[in-house]
Amino acid sequence: MKILITGANGLLGQNAVKQFVSTGCEVFATGRGASRLPLFDQPYTYLDIALTERNRVLAGVTSIQPDIILHTAAMAQPDDCELNRAACYDSNVNATKYLADAAEIVGARLIFLSTDFIFSGESGPYKEEDVPAPVNYYGQTKWEAEQYVMQGKMDWAIVRTVLVYGNILKGTRSNIVTWVKDNLEKKRQIKVVSDQIRTPTFVEDLVQGIRLIIEKEKKGIYHISGKEVLTPFDIAVQVAGYFGLDKSLMERVNADTFTQPARRPLKTGFIIEKAERELGYRPVSFVEGIRRIYG
Ligand SMILES: NC(=O)c1ccc[n+]([C@@H]2O[C@H](COP(=O)([O-])OP(=O)(O)OC[C@H]3O[C@@H](n4cnc5c(N)ncnc54)[C@H](OP(=O)(O)O)[C@@H]3O)[C@@H](O)[C@H]2O)c1
Repeated sequence: MKILITGANGLLGQNAVKQFVSTGCEVFATGRGASRLPLFDQPYTYLDIALTERNRVLAGVTSIQPDIILHTAAMAQPDDCELNRAACYDSNVNATKYLADAAEIVGARLIFLSTDFIFSGESGPYKEEDVPAPVNYYGQTKWEAEQYVMQGKMDWAIVRTVLVYGNILKGTRSNIVTWVKDNLEKKRQIKVVSDQIRTPTFVEDLVQGIRLIIEKEKKGIYHISGKEVLTPFDIAVQVAGYFGLDKSLMERVNADTFTQPARRPLKTGFIIEKAERELGYRPVSFVEGIRRIYG
């Protein structure tokens, strides 16, 4: 199987490349600029493809002729999206349209990564059928991209996920586990939100969910996340407990303590019964995810 993975320098992209090469797939990893991927046991091809240039996307996909396009690339920081709307629209909506069109041309299946931030956060955790109502620009662009994918004539699946944490392979941005661990290790005080809920997702589970969708040739929308409903404060407590760090450095606060450019949905997280039932998806517990990363 030939798979093209976008966003290959990112947290999910790096872990997806690692797992797909290890299972013998022919992997074409695409990113912006030079590769930040490490070498893995098996070979893969890295290509610098600017996803916001339609012609380059169409030419790249046509020359590769992938069976699967796994589209993980996105401008995924809500505050950046709020402040740089044109760039966010280009990366999140236009790039997805070009890839969807390219998938249709070459007959590839498109797996598009989306987010809990398409929901309002008024009544989470959410299931696949719930009605999106994003509260920030990042969520709006991902929801618009989803709708374009759903109208496509190619085979498609949309994988929505939540607060991903995992192995920082090389040059990927921090995530909630590394943020808490790094700050507490440096004895810094941190304010942690206790009125939001999420279902944090171990990146290797997310890749496994994607692999199950591919292997079982499933179509449609899947919520792929962890199973435990936790507040960021609960998460921080578990991280501190695992590493034996000083919990008294953590202050419990409400989300409205922070003035951030992008509003955050309050209660998200996912109900993953569809993925469990149809895919046999079985995510690890949050603490087991930490153990798999740090041993
Ligand atoms: N991480 C989470 O908690 C989370 C939660 C819900 C959903 N998601 C979704 O999951 C997917 C993967 O997220 P992630 O955590 O792996 O994000 P990430 O670590 O920020 O990686 C995203 C990658 O996309 C690349 N990219 C952005 N715009 C691009 C463009 N115009 N052309 C080419 N590449 C571009 C970035 O390139 P550079 O490295 O050059 O910046 C980056 O490597 C995203 O679609 C995101 O919306 C993530």
